[in-house]
Amino acid sequence: MKCVISCILAFCLPAMVSAADFSTGDAAKGKAIYDQICVHCHHLTDEASAVGAPGFKGVTKRRTLEWINEWISGPEAFVKKDAAAKELVKGKPIVMPTFPEMQVEQNRMDIIAFLKTL
Ligand code: HEC
Repeated sequence: MKCVISCILAFCLPAMVSAADFSTGDAAKGKAIYDQICVHCHHLTDEASAVGAPGFKGVTKRRTLEWINEWISGPEAFVKKDAAAKELVKGKPIVMPTFPEMQVEQNRMDIIAFLKTL
């Protein structure tokens, strides 16, 4: 039984994250999320901020939407399994928090729709 549960956690949850339908995102709602949460660390230009957060301009060209979706779901969990995420933090402590708001798939679709406009 324990195995069944851990198998579900190991295989089905990541699959659910990557099966996201990005077309459902609302860029205007995403901008509101940016203004509330991400603005504290990320610029909308291509310049990194003082805390080392990359600027958002062109981020959807540097990274796939699936990658961004997983990163914003939980940077700490993603760094454990993704080489590019590991490279991004380069062995230093991860600065970006895991946000409760980013556990809601629609919020992630909205912020990604906004990032696509930059
Ligand atoms: C407390 C500061 C902070 C906040 C708030 C924050 N981030 Fe970050 N973010 C970072 C830092 C710093 C990095 C670089 C990796 C690291 O050191 O954690 C990063 C990396 C990223 C990346 C990867 C960018 C790239 O070019 O590879 C994305 C995408 C991202 N953040 C999205 C978001 C979104 C969306 C929000 C708002 C919901 C957000 N972040 C809020 C600090 C923050």
